[in-house]
Amino acid sequence: MTLPIPLTRFVGREAELAEAATLLAATRLLTLTGPGGAGKTRLALELASDLAGNFPDGVCFVDLAPLTEGEFVWDQVATTLGITEPGSGRSLSEGVGQYLAERRALIMLDNCEQVVQSAASVTAALLTAAPAIKVLATSREPLGVGGEVTWVVPPLSDGDGVELFTDRARQARPHFSLRERDAEAVRTICRRLDGLPLAIELAATRARAFAPADIAAGLRDRLQLLPAGPRTAPARQATLQASFDWSYDLLSEPERALLRQCSVFAGGFDLEAAIAVCPAAGLDVVGSLVDRSLLVVQDDEHQGGPRYRMLEPVRQFPSPGAATRATRRCWRGWWPQSCRSGWFQDGSPSSAGGWTPLTSGLRIFRPAERHRS
Ligand SMILES: Nc1ncnc2c1ncn2[C@@H]1O[C@H](COP(=O)(O)OP(=O)(O)OP(=O)(O)O)[C@@H](O)[C@H]1O
Ligand SMILES: [Mg+2]
Repeated sequence: MTLPIPLTRFVGREAELAEAATLLAATRLLTLTGPGGAGKTRLALELASDLAGNFPDGVCFVDLAPLTEGEFVWDQVATTLGITEPGSGRSLSEGVGQYLAERRALIMLDNCEQVVQSAASVTAALLTAAPAIKVLATSREPLGVGGEVTWVVPPLSDGDGVELFTDRARQARPHFSLRERDAEAVRTICRRLDGLPLAIELAATRARAFAPADIAAGLRDRLQLLPAGPRTAPARQATLQASFDWSYDLLSEPERALLRQCSVFAGGFDLEAAIAVCPAAGLDVVGSLVDRSLLVVQDDEHQGGPRYRMLEPVRQFPSPGAATRATRRCWRGWWPQSCRSGWFQDGSPSSAGGWTPLTSGLRIFRPAERHRS
């Protein structure tokens, strides 16, 4: 049982590794969640390699990303464990259960999201059949298995983001060095990309031709301009669009509609705003986009409830027709009304404290109109 060896250097994440290790010590099923390209797989691999000594029977990496049909999850687990013949009269699941029953192993189930239902039932069956194993899963949404602990992989810190950019920029241009005046531009790049490692890696390949300040300026609201990644990257990570599509394809129609409509909000929004631009969406649809790591919840002490935000590398990609006429009509009706109805702290957009939401609202249609109408 071996782990795949990444071709690039792992950067930072000391605090995240420590936190994930603590969580895994206290549970038998830890799922790292987060949007595409957030670094779930990379972090899980690093964690598994750090903790391998705790598992005398080894660590087993099961790659579920190639599967499109849930029915093959058992085959993938069995093949990875080297089980080709479950034994006479036994099903594959029984054969795997029997094999793991006495073992102390860590099973890594990577990229469960597109077969999440089957991944959940296989995980539950494995944990039941083999009491001494643990499962470390990565998925853009939780598995929903009893006893599961889910942990959202956070964005890269500024420091880790700059280190990742510099490392990958040196692959593109070996003499790249981070001069004093470049450092702030690289921090700007990382913030514009919301600390998403995949996006930072793609941006860094631009260092072959451009200075960090030019890359930062080019990324102001045109993330679509990020280049494709290495040919060896999985197809879903070849571009940010492909990474987004991988999640989008898994959504139901109401979830897609809400995502498209809410992509007009550049500065975040609350539940009232979401329902205003997409009246057909219920609470369950909003909750489901949160579960699928497409909306991030931000607790706002000045507002009555949480606010939601799409990470910028997510917000810019909903497919054509995002800012539809209907959205604009809803929004135009809702915006003045929201001012009157106290969307601002004291109902007045000109008061202190009212300008922040007003400013973020004013950014609303900028990229969406330019690219998609
Ligand atoms: N801490 C890190 N150090 C170096 N590279 C990283 C780090 N985190 C992520 N990366 C790189 O960023 C890219 C995306 O990371 P990763 O594949 O782990 O994302 P993911 O969250 O698993 O995405 P997906 O949902 O598409 O599977 C990869 O090329 C990975 O090597
Ligand atoms: Mg992954």
